[in-house]
Amino acid sequence: MTRKNSTFYFAERPQGLIVPGKTFKLVESDAPTADDLEDGQVLVEVIYLSVDPGMRSVLYDSRSYVPALALGEKMKGNGIARVLASKSAKAKEGDLVTALTGWTEVAIVGENELQVINLPEGANVTDALGAAGNTGITAYIGLKHIGQPKAGETVVVSGAAGATGIIVGQIAKIHGCRVVGIAGSDDKCRLLVDELGFDVALNYKSPAFREELAKATPKYIDVYWDNVGGEILDECLARAAVHSRFVICGSISIYNSLGAAENKGIRNLIQVLMQRIRMEGFIVFDYRDDYPEARQALGKWLVEGKIKRKETIVKGGIGVVDSTFNDLFAGKNVGKLMVEVKPLQEAH
Ligand SMILES: NC(=O)c1ccc[n+]([C@@H]2O[C@H](COP(=O)([O-])OP(=O)(O)OC[C@H]3O[C@@H](n4cnc5c(N)ncnc54)[C@H](OP(=O)(O)O)[C@@H]3O)[C@@H](O)[C@H]2O)c1
Repeated sequence: MTRKNSTFYFAERPQGLIVPGKTFKLVESDAPTADDLEDGQVLVEVIYLSVDPGMRSVLYDSRSYVPALALGEKMKGNGIARVLASKSAKAKEGDLVTALTGWTEVAIVGENELQVINLPEGANVTDALGAAGNTGITAYIGLKHIGQPKAGETVVVSGAAGATGIIVGQIAKIHGCRVVGIAGSDDKCRLLVDELGFDVALNYKSPAFREELAKATPKYIDVYWDNVGGEILDECLARAAVHSRFVICGSISIYNSLGAAENKGIRNLIQVLMQRIRMEGFIVFDYRDDYPEARQALGKWLVEGKIKRKETIVKGGIGVVDSTFNDLFAGKNVGKLMVEVKPLQEAH
């Protein structure tokens, strides 16, 4: 019997949050097969799909680091998948890979869009998307090239209980820094301090956040890792140390309102000058040469227990991917957010 395949196609450009069932259309069709493969291509079935805030940017018809998605196109996305058939020397049937599959169940991917998973013993397969995957690699590279934390320095991380933030904070601890996390609930703050070794964690929703940040950074901020932008970035600029480094990794607080008139400007930008701050945006894809080094270091720290993983895995198959995407903006995830498209043990 012909295998069926459900895929999300971009149907309507969202204003604000995406609307599950409307922004994307879930379409069922016949799955591609080994007969459809050309040289250099691989047929995969998706097991986990990564849910990333940055995917919101492809839904704008504006300049970004990735081309905008056209209406009618398959939604882009990265996942963990099992190879069903291969016409590439890079992967063989049965291999587990990370691949740019898009939001679908079965896909044909080019050999340049996949990486065979090669994790150290003791790691989980989901680490290939999380702690030792693109997420961890982002943390490693941003700290290595821009943050450059030194022992004894104060490192502040926003989005601290999210996928990237928890790894940034833990790497900064490995470097001997004092680490202050910023997150959106008291429970998340407790987790950061009690389980993940952060020195202090602050709830940015507290009415006294500004005073609490000042109290937590008596010697000012040497490295600020920004996952959220907006007012939190502004408050951290006001606490910047002389010659501090501001790693601009993401701006989730404005992803649903890019260019909107109600977005407030940054009041404390003058501190970039006053404190001679090095403030630099970066996109992890620009540092591909560093990936092997990052993967090796992260894998080693994971199995040694120097870095702990946190994951939020939503079950329910391909159909829940669009509604799960909004969980990022509601802060429902702790650590890496992904959807289980098919249980690992059931994948062929
Ligand atoms: N530059 C790069 O190459 C690169 C690579 C990967 C990721 N990123 C960026 O890094 C950031 C983190 O990505 P991730 O995958 O690790 O996601 P994540 O942090 O796991 O998930 C997003 C988190 O952001 C927080 N958040 C949502 N809305 C917020 C708001 N208005 N203000 C403050 N916090 C808010 C929520 O936690 P709370 O409960 O704490 O609010 C939520 O759990 C994103 O901005 C992403 O685009 C950049």
